[in-house]
Amino acid sequence: MNKIVIAIDGFSSTGKSTVAKQLAKALNYIYVDTGAMYRAVTYFALENNLIDKDFFHSEKLIERLSDINITFKFNEKLGFAEVYLNGKNIEKAIRTLEVSRFVSPIATISEVRQKLVEQQQLMGKDKGIVMDGRDIGTVVFPDAELKIFMTASAETRAIRRYRELLERGHNLSYDEVLENVTTRDRIDSTREDSPLIKAKDAIEIDNSDLTIEVQLDTLLKLAKAMT
Ligand code: DC
Repeated sequence: MNKIVIAIDGFSSTGKSTVAKQLAKALNYIYVDTGAMYRAVTYFALENNLIDKDFFHSEKLIERLSDINITFKFNEKLGFAEVYLNGKNIEKAIRTLEVSRFVSPIATISEVRQKLVEQQQLMGKDKGIVMDGRDIGTVVFPDAELKIFMTASAETRAIRRYRELLERGHNLSYDEVLENVTTRDRIDSTREDSPLIKAKDAIEIDNSDLTIEVQLDTLLKLAKAMT
């Protein structure tokens, strides 16, 4: 069977990565969570004091971009690849609300995007890849054979994210999570460089009322039709 590129884009907390991971596993494809790469850069900026209170020093971050090496390593136990920053596993550390607060502003910096997009294109050059993010079908792989645009209401997404964070032991309110989700939606879709928009040839799926099983089944059928 022909290997293809599957691009899954959409707003934050639409459950893209959950279904993308399962799709990649079912097809024996590589899965790449590009949001984790923007989160890794944000984590680096926080760790290196390039963000003071609410202000981030984009010039200083741009100067330090060559010190940022992001890699993925498959974890057999978890069944997916975890993200590493300069050799350190940061898969859990990048999922905090602090990183979530700063990641959208950091993702507006063109130099950051250029670096990450280049790496993403390299990872997908041999196809057989499921990549999720915001600009995969529009910028990273405009020729992807299958493009999906995931949506769900902001409230549905905030509830999912809130439950996820509570399970991980974070102490915060639903309102804080909803505020983060809607702020990120706004920044992601209005930024100048590679805003989150649905590619013309993407298939839109509103998963507000769909189980993971139904989503996976739909995506598998679409992928099989392309190979
Ligand atoms: O998918 P996520 O919520 O982990 O992504 C975190 C942020 O990274 C998101 O708010 C916007 C940014 N992002 C992006 O600009 N482009 C991508 N391809 C992936 C994520």
